Amino acid sequence: MSDAKLQAVLSSLSQVAKQLDVLLSDKPASDPCCVKLNTNENPFPLPEPIMQSAMAALGQQYLYPEDDNASLRQAASEAYGVSKDQVIAGNGSSELLGLIYRAFLVPGDRMAMLSPGFSFNRKLARLQGAQFIEIGWGADHSLPVDDLLLGPAKDAKFILLANPNNPTGTFVPVADVERLVSQSDRLIVLDEAYVDFAPDNGLHLLNRYPNLLILRTFSKSYATAGIRVGFGLGHPEVIGRLRELQNVFNMNVIGQAVGISVLGHRGAYAENHKHIKHERQRVTVALSKLGFSVIPSHANFLLARVPAGQEGSWWQGALERQKILVAFFEDAGLENYIRVSIGTKAEMDEFLEVATEIAATAKETTPLCRPSAAAASALSR
Ligand SMILES: Cc1ncc(COP(=O)(O)O)c(C=O)c1O
Repeated sequence: MSDAKLQAVLSSLSQVAKQLDVLLSDKPASDPCCVKLNTNENPFPLPEPIMQSAMAALGQQYLYPEDDNASLRQAASEAYGVSKDQVIAGNGSSELLGLIYRAFLVPGDRMAMLSPGFSFNRKLARLQGAQFIEIGWGADHSLPVDDLLLGPAKDAKFILLANPNNPTGTFVPVADVERLVSQSDRLIVLDEAYVDFAPDNGLHLLNRYPNLLILRTFSKSYATAGIRVGFGLGHPEVIGRLRELQNVFNMNVIGQAVGISVLGHRGAYAENHKHIKHERQRVTVALSKLGFSVIPSHANFLLARVPAGQEGSWWQGALERQKILVAFFEDAGLENYIRVSIGTKAEMDEFLEVATEIAATAKETTPLCRPSAAAASALSR
């Protein structure tokens, strides 16, 4: 297509994302030869029986997947002890997050998220033309139940919190979540993406409170981020409204088969989860020795405050130059942090080796270490 024709076509189309200020970021694609610790994947192969289910599903490639994910939803209902009409299956839980915003918000509506939280939610709210209210976590990352019940979130269409939370990795007692759910007349969306690395979960609340909607994903704890399997669990009326909006054939045959197989073999991941919790502790201790301050994590990642006087973005850049990818967030309050996913032992060894070198260089050669804004202004006084 000629440039002129392309321009004519593009100018005839509405650019909703630009109007709503949610254009794609121009982050480079990840380099396959990097140690990838920036998106909280679980870098282990599938257990053998699950791999076999995936391979068998490949032989069904010419068929459309089963309508409405009926067998997968049935398997999830049995595994989670709920009825099938309390389950929706998604192409990852991010598909389900998208449905929640589309199903429950019209332009001008308000929703609230505990902040800092999973930033994709901000984009979804904007795309819906909704107001995104951020409610800060309480002291020591606690759930500010009274603020949520009485403050600006009280008339939001829904309140969203992740437990464990991303990016902090912190976990609030399920009793606090129950207090919120029981006393609020709003829909509470409880995103349990990382719950398999945590001491407890909110599943037992589901049949007691019709205003609770739980999200689960197999991306983090079941090593299937590239296959895309997620679930929403809630009251049949709430789940029904989401299913009404869902795309036909939203999942593919491999995702459906792997989802069913994972649900039948969850015990096969015990070693995987044990490994991640063990490495999480080992890396926490090692980073603390390097001068980082690490928030105790209940997820498969760590949020670490970089050594005093240094900036998170500087650390991210220094690690990336050594082919180690970690996450950095520009949000206010997170400028001095990096988020590090927990990978294999070999990956974490490599990360620690490079971090140790960078920390030593930063100490010795001050000009290499860009001081934080606060330190810079203190120096110039
Ligand atoms: C808190 C939280 N929720 C949901 C997701 C989406 O996961 P997926 O779409 O892979 O199921 C993520 C991914 O990072 C997450 O951190």
